[in-house]
Formats: sequence, structure tokens, C-alpha cells
Amino acid sequence: MTKTSTHQEFEVLDYQDLSTAEQNLILAAKEISKKAYAPYSNFQVGAAVLLEDGTVLKSSNQENVSFPAGVCAEHLVLSYAGANFPETAPNCLALVARKKEEEQWAFVSPCGICRQVINEVENRFNKPIKLLILRPDGRVYSIPGIAKLLPLKFDDLNSK
Ligand code: THU
Repeated sequence: MTKTSTHQEFEVLDYQDLSTAEQNLILAAKEISKKAYAPYSNFQVGAAVLLEDGTVLKSSNQENVSFPAGVCAEHLVLSYAGANFPETAPNCLALVARKKEEEQWAFVSPCGICRQVINEVENRFNKPIKLLILRPDGRVYSIPGIAKLLPLKFDDLNSK
């Protein structure tokens, strides 16, 4: 039997160790999370994207009474980026979440569909997107690209 490993390690940084642009991206994600429409889960997510030209775009999650019709914050902001800035690659995506009316930030990590969405955008621009995910302890996962969150990812219909 042959085995292969997909073990991953994740870098955890103090907020102060982020660049100013990255700190601002986390702040933008925190700010937009307050505008979440999340009456069913009360889980308010904020995502902010930094494009390569310095543009910052933000979105919160938008839920629906028919739950699968809801849209995650990072899916929404990446779709907006692709629709409005089709020539401009996203460099970095910050993600934060907290339960409504709670002080502490929650653990959050992109769902499977969002991982595939992030992968598509990376492939579209042939460039990894750095993911910054705020942890409940205030530190930040810094993940150099979606490959770390999506082992054995599917992205080529014609590979042999
Ligand atoms: N959600 C996001 O927006 N992004 C994530 O990374 C995780 C989950 C949303 C979906 C739903 O509106 C709520 O959080 C609870 O799952």
C-alpha cells in the first residue's frame, strides 16, 4: 500500500506583526461584520479583500429563510470583486466573525464551498490569495493560499 500525506501547518501571528495594510484589512472586516444579515444563525461574518491596486472591498454574510440560499461573506465579496474588477487580482482576504451581541470574536474558517470559490479566484488570476483569519484569542492565522485549506483540490477538468 502507498500512502501520501496532506498534513498542513498554519502560521499564527500577533495582530501587531501584520503589515499596516493587513491590519487595516482586519479592521475593515470587523467593521463590515456589523452589517451582517444573519437573523437565523446570529453569526455575523465580515470579509475584506485587498486587490493588487490597493482597492479594499468588504462584505458580510447574507442569510435566507431557505438556508442554502444564504451567501457567505467571503463568497459575496469575491464575487463582487470578480464582477466589478475583472482585471484586478485579489492579494489578500481577511475573515472575522462573532455571535451577535457577544464581545469576543468567534472561531471562523471558510466553508467547503467558499474554499472552492477562493480556489477559483486564485486560478483565474494565477495568484495565491493570502488568507488572514482572526482567532478568538486575537491572534491571526496567516495562510499563504487556499492550497493549505484544500488538500487534493479539484481545479482542472482536463488533467491527465
Ligand atoms: N459564514 C460565512 O459567511 N463565512 C464563513 O466562513 C463561515 C460561515 C456564514 C454562513 C451563515 O450565514 C453563518 O455564517 C452561519 O454559518
